[in-house]
Amino acid sequence: MNIRKAVIPVAGLGTRFLPATKAIPKEMLTIVDRPTIQYIVEEVVASGIEQVILVTSEGKAAIENHFDYDFVLDNILQKKNKERLAEELNHISNLIDIVSVRQKKPLGLGHAIWSTRNVVGDEPFAVLLGDDLVLSDEPCCHQMISLFDEVHESIVAIQRVPKDQTSNYGIIEGQPYKKRTYKIDRMVEKPAPGATDSDMAIIGRYILRPEIFSLLEKTEPGHGGEIQLTDALLELSRQRGMYAYEFEGTRFDAGDKLGYLKAIIAFGLRHSELGEAFRKHIKQVAENF
Ligand code: UTP
Repeated sequence: MNIRKAVIPVAGLGTRFLPATKAIPKEMLTIVDRPTIQYIVEEVVASGIEQVILVTSEGKAAIENHFDYDFVLDNILQKKNKERLAEELNHISNLIDIVSVRQKKPLGLGHAIWSTRNVVGDEPFAVLLGDDLVLSDEPCCHQMISLFDEVHESIVAIQRVPKDQTSNYGIIEGQPYKKRTYKIDRMVEKPAPGATDSDMAIIGRYILRPEIFSLLEKTEPGHGGEIQLTDALLELSRQRGMYAYEFEGTRFDAGDKLGYLKAIIAFGLRHSELGEAFRKHIKQVAENF
C-alpha cells in the first residue's frame, strides 16, 4: 500500500510564539530563506507523496498563498528580467498538489486530523506537524514510509529526551523490534514525574492507518478540553499494534522560541550558498562573546 497523502495540521493558535504570531502564522516564520512550512512540504515531496492536505484555521491564509501561483508577481519579475527569481517562485507553486480543510474550532490535534477523514479516505497516510522540522540526510517521512512497507501498521517517530522533559511529550513504552524500531506496549500523554521510566518521546511525524478516524470520532476530549491524538493512538495500538521509530536526523520544535533559534543555526550552517560564510561568522561570534 503506497502512502500517497500527507496531512499537515497548521490550525493551532501558536501562543508560545506570541507576539510574533499575532498576525503571522508560526509556520510562515522564516528559517534562513524560506518559511518553516516550505521545508515540511519539501520533505513530503522528497518522500514521494502525491498530495498535501493542510488543516487550516482563521488567519492562516498566508500559508495557502505561499504555495499558490502569483500571476501578477510572475509578470512583474519577467518584465524586470528577474527570471531566476520567477522560476524559484513557480517552483514553489508547482511542488505538489495541495488541498485545504478548515478546522472550525481549535479542539486539538486529534480533531484536526479527524477533520481530514473525507479527503484522506480509506488508505494509510502520513502526518507531519507544521512546526516540527527534521534535518536529516534521508527525509524523516521517507524513512518511516520504508518501515511501513515492512510492518503495515501505524508508526510514530520518536526521539530520546532528558528525563526532566518527558512531561512535555507523549511518551511510549515498548519492546525492541529491530534497529531503531520498537513495538509499542503503552503510551502516556505528558506523564507526571515518575509515571514512566521511558525517555522515548513522540515527535511530529506519523504514518497512520485509516482506522484512526473512527477511533478519533469516539475519543472524548482530554487534557485542556482537546481531542488528544495520543488517546486514539493508544486505542489503535491495542487493536492492531503500532511501532515507534527512532528516526535518523535532528528535530527542531520551530513553534518554540528556543527551538526556532536552534533551527536557524542548524539550517543556516547546512545552507548550500550561505553555509560557509555563516560557519565563519558563528566561529567569530563564539570567540568574541
Ligand atoms: P501545538 O501543541 O504546537 O499547539 O500543536 P499550537 O496551538 O499550534 O501552539 P501553541 O502551543 O499555542 O504555541 C501541535 C500541532 O497541532 C496543530 C498545530 O498547528 C501544530 O501543528 N493543531 C493543534 C491543530 O491543527 N489544531 C488544534 O486544534 C491544535
